[in-house]
Amino acid sequence: MGLAGFLGVTMLWVKAAHVIFVIFLMAGLFMMPRFFVYHHQTPVGSDEDKKWIEREDRLRKIILNPSLVLVWVFGLMLAFNADVWREGWFHAKLLLVLLLSAYHGWLIGYFKKLKKGERPLTEKRLRLLNEVPGIAAAIIVILVIVRPF
Ligand code: HEM
Repeated sequence: MGLAGFLGVTMLWVKAAHVIFVIFLMAGLFMMPRFFVYHHQTPVGSDEDKKWIEREDRLRKIILNPSLVLVWVFGLMLAFNADVWREGWFHAKLLLVLLLSAYHGWLIGYFKKLKKGERPLTEKRLRLLNEVPGIAAAIIVILVIVRPF
């Protein structure tokens, strides 16, 4: 259970907070590229285009960015508490979590391009990229629950 770490029983509350913000983060990571697909179907400069920019901006500011920060803060607290730095599953998890964070950064970058009226990717490519967070989350959950290595 990891109750022997410096957090003691509080560790359970930190873990609960970690998972809560993981859910919010994942919701945002699933929604944003879906928004992009709809956004792509609107003509540049149209009222609909502006509405999607507004929706994406809110998703970024209210859900995505705060959740990413809080997932990292609580996750690092858990990592120091349980002293997992030399464990194989944790190395693999960190790698995937960095990939998800990079994906997050890519989403924000793509949003800024859409805001400027640029549409660099095709809808098909966007739909493919949509699969990244789901696959990463599935592997992360197996790593933290099963701890296969
Ligand atoms: C951002 C950096 C992250 C760090 C440093 C981190 C670190 C950790 C650590 C050390 C634990 C184990 C706590 C323990 O049992 O002692 C944990 C638990 C957990 N993490 Fe993360 N995590 C991060 C991000 C994520 C992400 C992105 C996901 C899911 C997509 C995730 C899902 C989970 C889940 C489901 C648990 C609970 C497993 C259990 O019941 O023991 N974490 N995290």
